[in-house]
Order: sequence, then C-alpha cells, then structure tokens
Amino acid sequence: MGNNVIFTLLTILYFFIYVVTSLNSSTDEYALLAFKYQITSDPNKILAKNWSQGTSFCNWIGITCGTRHQRVRGLNLANMGLGGTIAKEIGRLSFLRSLVISNNNFHGFIPDEMGKLSQLREIEMQYNELSGNIPTSLGFLENLQKLNLSYNGLIGDIPYMIFNLSSLVESSFGSNSLSGSLHTDICYNLPKLEMLRISKNQISGNIPPSLGKCTNLKLLSLSYNNFAGSIPMEIGNLSKLEILNLAQNNLIGDLPSTIFNITSLLQISVGVGNKISGKFPEDPCNRATMLETLQISHNKFHGEIPPSLLQYHALQNLDITGNEFTGNIPNEIGNLSTLQGLYLGINGLSDCDLDGYH
Ligand SMILES: *[C@@H]1O[C@H](CO)[C@@H](O)[C@H](O)[C@H]1NC(C)=O
Ligand SMILES: *[C@@H]1O[C@H](CO)[C@@H](O)[C@H](O)[C@H]1NC(C)=O
Ligand SMILES: *[C@@H]1O[C@H](CO)[C@@H](O)[C@H](O)[C@H]1NC(C)=O
Ligand SMILES: *[C@@H]1O[C@H](CO)[C@@H](O)[C@H](O)[C@H]1NC(C)=O
Ligand SMILES: *[C@@H]1O[C@H](CO)[C@@H](O)[C@H](O)[C@H]1NC(C)=O
Ligand SMILES: *[C@@H]1O[C@H](CO)[C@@H](O)[C@H](O)[C@H]1NC(C)=O
Ligand SMILES: *[C@@H]1O[C@H](CO)[C@@H](O)[C@H](O)[C@H]1NC(C)=O
Repeated sequence: MGNNVIFTLLTILYFFIYVVTSLNSSTDEYALLAFKYQITSDPNKILAKNWSQGTSFCNWIGITCGTRHQRVRGLNLANMGLGGTIAKEIGRLSFLRSLVISNNNFHGFIPDEMGKLSQLREIEMQYNELSGNIPTSLGFLENLQKLNLSYNGLIGDIPYMIFNLSSLVESSFGSNSLSGSLHTDICYNLPKLEMLRISKNQISGNIPPSLGKCTNLKLLSLSYNNFAGSIPMEIGNLSKLEILNLAQNNLIGDLPSTIFNITSLLQISVGVGNKISGKFPEDPCNRATMLETLQISHNKFHGEIPPSLLQYHALQNLDITGNEFTGNIPNEIGNLSTLQGLYLGINGLSDCDLDGYH
C-alpha cells in the first residue's frame, strides 16, 4: 500500500471520528430543539426567546452541561407555565442526570424512550397533566434516586420493576388515578428507600408485609386508596419511620402493637373510612415518645382509652372521634401540655371527669 492510500484512509478515519464526536452534542441540540417544538404554550416566551440556535445550548435557560464535555446533564424547566407534550427525542440526552419539569402543564404520555437515560438520578414531573401508564422502561433506570410523578392523571399499575431500582431514595406517585395492587415482594431490593407516597389513587389489595424490609423508610403514605385486609405487624420493623399515613382505606383488624416499637414516630394516621377494631394497643415501654399526631378517628376501636396513650408528652393532635371507646376520660389528659387539637366526640365516653376539654 502506498503512503497516499494510508493518508487517505487516515483522513477518512479522522473525519469519521470527528463526525461521531460532534454528532454526540449535536444530538443533544437536536433533542432539545425537538423538545422545544413540542411545547405549544410558553406564555412568558422563555424558551421561544432563549433557546435559539445561534448560541450554545449549554447557555440556554434551564440547561446544565457537564464540565468536561458539552453534554446536557440537567434540564430544569420547573414553574415556567409550559404546555405541550414531552418529545420522545428526550431519550437521546444520554448524559442527562436530572430532569425537572414540575409545576407546568405538560400533557400526554411519558415517553418510553426515557428508559434509555441510564444516567438519570432524578425525575421530577409533579404537578402536570400527564396521562396514560407509567412506562415500564423507567424500571431500567438503575441510577434513579428520586422519582416524583405526583399530581398528574396517570393510570394503570405502578410497574413492578420500579420497585427493583435499588438506588431509589424518594418516590412519589400520589394524586393520580393509579390502580392495581402493590407487589408482595415490594421491598426486597429497595435498601435505600426513605419516602414512599402513593396516597390519593385507587390501589387495592393488601398492604404487603414485605414493606417491613424497607428499613430506611421515614415516610409511608398509602392514604386515600382501596387497601384492604389488616395492617401487617412487620410495619413495626420500620425503625426509622416518622410518618405513617394509612387513612381512608378499607383496613380491618387491629392496630399492631409493634408500631409502638418505632421510637422515631411523629405521626400515625389510620383514621376515617377504615374499620380498625379491637382495643387501642398498650405501649408498656413507652418507646414512641416523639409522637405528635395520633389520628384514629372513625374506626371501631373499643374499650377504655389506655393510660399509656397519655404518656406521649409530645402529642399535639389527638383525634379519636367516631370510635366505640367507653369509660372515663383519664384525668392525665390534662398533663399533655403540648396538645393543640383534641377530638373525642361520638364515643361512649363519660366526660364527668373532664375539666375544660370539650
Ligand atoms: C461520543 O459518543 C461515543 C459513543 O457513543 C463516545 O465513545 C464518545 O466519547 C463521545 N464523545 C464525546 C465528545 O462525548
Ligand atoms: C438565555 O438565558 C441565560 C440564563 O438566563 C442567559 O445567560 C443567556 O444570555 C440567555 N440567552 C439568550 C440568547 O437570551
Ligand atoms: C431486579 O434487579 C436485579 C439487579 O439489581 C436483577 O438481577 C433482577 O433481574 C431484577 N428483577 C426484575 C424482576 O426486574
Ligand atoms: C413530590 O412532589 C410533591 C408535591 O410538590 C411533594 O409533596 C413531595 O414531597 C415530592 N416527593 C418527592 C419524592 O420529591
Ligand atoms: C419483622 O417483624 C416480624 C413481625 O413483627 C418479625 O417476626 C420479623 O422477624 C421481623 N423481620 C426482620 C427482618 O426484622
Ligand atoms: C415489638 O413489639 C412487640 C409487641 O409489642 C414485642 O413483642 C417485641 O418484643 C417488640 N420488638 C422490639 C424489637 O422491640
Ligand atoms: C399529671 O399531673 C399531675 C399534677 O398536675 C400529677 O400529680 C400527676 O402525677 C401527673 N400524671 C401523670 C400521669 O403524669
């Protein structure tokens, strides 16, 4: 082979490398422009004015690029009043780590192509008008730490694979129209999960006992759904839990006494719409001393108000209305110095011992 041939081949090779490298970032620009063209409402003309092809997209509003290469790392367009659908080309922003488009009017489906964004750490899409199913492909985002899809119009199941994302720390699906039930193995691969909000949907079935394996949970909110069956004892294994909200479901059975093993608890809400029965559990060791809110109204608790309930000296809100408690209201209730709200109505209680707490 002559030198000329080698030179020509090398030139072609370099040209090819040049095309591939520059293609990467022009792909980001292409994807962003495709995203822009599907935005049909931009009342403050933020993107219309700012996202112009004359300037580098790394300087466009809401875009953060990596320091070493000019690739899009962050797309943050929260609170801009934007409307339109999410372009599937978003799946080409292959270096994207953070996608925040919350508090806008995006509608239509969440594109399947988002499942290709393997670097994604954070998705915040709350407060939009997104519809359709949560794409199963989101279950491939194995670096995802924060997922917020709350306050949209999403339907169908929460794909099981999302609960197999072992990096997940915070997840919110609240205030959609999601249905189906939670997988029995929900917490087998969620060692870091701290927040699970599913409230205000139509999820049915039992509360899976395996939730007790999400041992880093601080907030568990399943309220305003159609959960049935009893509250699993295993909830008591959530030793870092601060907020437990199971209100407005179809739960029956006892309130498991294991709940009071959780020393970090600030709030227990199991009120309204449930049919939890039995006596209110004793907490002989008085562990849950930080408890501020106990909302157990409109259930079927009976028996006397246990004196142990009055050991919670941090209690600010106590609502036991609409149960079948009997006997006297213990005098010691007057010792709960931080109490701000106290609701005892429609029980079989005698208030003859009560001074000033009606
Ligand atoms: C372009 O993408 C290729 C693979 O898709 C990658 O190997 C290369 O490092 C990228 N170049 C730049 C400048 O990002
Ligand atoms: C777009 O917005 C950014 C950030 O506010 C600003 O620095 C830049 O100059 C703007 N570019 C144009 C073309 O308006
Ligand atoms: C869950 O994730 C692990 C890896 O973390 C993987 O091996 C397994 O196949 C996944 N299971 C499902 C049902 O996706
Ligand atoms: C999701 O957004 C809602 C509404 O802004 C907020 O209350 C919730 O804490 C957020 N959850 C996560 C995991 O960021
Ligand atoms: C979880 O709780 C149950 C019942 O309260 C108990 O039998 C079990 O050993 C606990 N599991 C772990 C892993 O701590
Ligand atoms: C949890 O609570 C149950 C019932 O109240 C009790 O038998 C058990 O010993 C407790 N476990 C721990 C670890 O405190
Ligand atoms: C409640 O306070 C009174 C004094 O106001 C005290 O005598 C009594 O021992 C206290 N009871 C409890 C259970 O702390």
